[in-house]
Amino acid sequence: MEQLAINGGTPVREKPLSYGHQYIDEEDIAAVAAVLKSDFLTCGPQIGALEKKLCELTGAKYAVVCANGTAALHIAVQAAGLKEGDELITTPMTFAASANCALYVGARPVFADIDPDTWNIDPERVRAAVTDKTKAIVAVDYTGQAVRLDELKEIAAKAGACLIEDAAHAIGTLYKGRPIGSIADMTTFSFHPIKTVTGGEGGAVLTDDEGLYKKLLLFRSHGITRDPSLMQRVNNGNDGGSEIFAGEYGSDCPWYYEQVALGANYRMTDMQAALVSSQLNKLQRFKARRKEIVDRYNEAFGGQPGLIIQKEIKESDTARHLYVLRFDTKTLGLSRKEIFRRLWAEGVHGNVNYIPVYRHPYYEALGYEKGLCPVAESLYEEIISLPLYYGLADGDVEDVIRAVYKVIGKN
Ligand SMILES: Cc1ncc(COP(=O)(O)O)c(C=O)c1O
Repeated sequence: MEQLAINGGTPVREKPLSYGHQYIDEEDIAAVAAVLKSDFLTCGPQIGALEKKLCELTGAKYAVVCANGTAALHIAVQAAGLKEGDELITTPMTFAASANCALYVGARPVFADIDPDTWNIDPERVRAAVTDKTKAIVAVDYTGQAVRLDELKEIAAKAGACLIEDAAHAIGTLYKGRPIGSIADMTTFSFHPIKTVTGGEGGAVLTDDEGLYKKLLLFRSHGITRDPSLMQRVNNGNDGGSEIFAGEYGSDCPWYYEQVALGANYRMTDMQAALVSSQLNKLQRFKARRKEIVDRYNEAFGGQPGLIIQKEIKESDTARHLYVLRFDTKTLGLSRKEIFRRLWAEGVHGNVNYIPVYRHPYYEALGYEKGLCPVAESLYEEIISLPLYYGLADGDVEDVIRAVYKVIGKN
């Protein structure tokens, strides 16, 4: 979208500010360059090093890094054993990937509405949505704020379902003092450039469960294994009816591997892993600066007529990924579209996170209808994500505040 000259007068910003941006320093560049000069570009030592680092950060026993957050969700639902006929409960206020992972394995996403104040999935709506087909709950830490994990764990356990926390927004967040990544049955991260920590692309799944861990490794790489405990021929003593395999399988045949399930190539490269590792060294700095910016925005916008800020539960010590501001369009007498256009004209390039997933045409064609989750639908109509990233200077933050004030007519 081009700069729009619709507000009149001089725009607050000549150089626009985007709603999110990566922060890359010389250490990051050196970390990636070192990999490029090494023997391994993929499947090398950076992968295990990053997995170890993620375990140390979160307290989880196992980490499996992969191509992106979407792949992480896909292998998580595969590991959880979801299949055709099963149901997966998730929030509509998320990126499509949180629900698409159900469709990849033939399961059905079921949408539970959000809490009107925190904008995270409402555990009571989840409870009401549980059926005997429910096999997973994908709970998204929207904007980085932890979901109500205690309630969701209890609901999942009662339903016999797997609790998968989609923490694409929430690396660095704590719930009741515990790092996100160590609480749900599985937790997924994304390292897309808009996220707090980036690898260009990248993702991870964390778990304490060894059985799930082994399956995650399998599904990350084609369903192929070199782990004798997972090999069917080795365990069944079945040579496949072929002379070729007579005796020629197992641990004394180092070349031997088996495909025992259908997976894809969801591996992460060593360049990406080195970048994520280097970025993780800065996570606490990233979190602190993002908190400062959020506090300043909340101070400026909280209590202003026509503006509604996201409420936080006290259990969440949030590493905030997105700053989403709600505009009370009735009070302001302006549509969201108009506010969005005027902010862009002031040099504040916001975004809308998110269109409720089931309102996309693909989902409508599957039979999902408007009105399913009214709280999420009404939130969607009034939100704009404002600039929030580590490199945002104090002056930039004040420009954003000035632009919002100007657009809503506050002096
Ligand atoms: C909540 C959520 N889940 C999953 C994803 C998918 O992550 P990726 O883009 O790394 O595939 C995203 C990315 O935007 C997201 O915001």
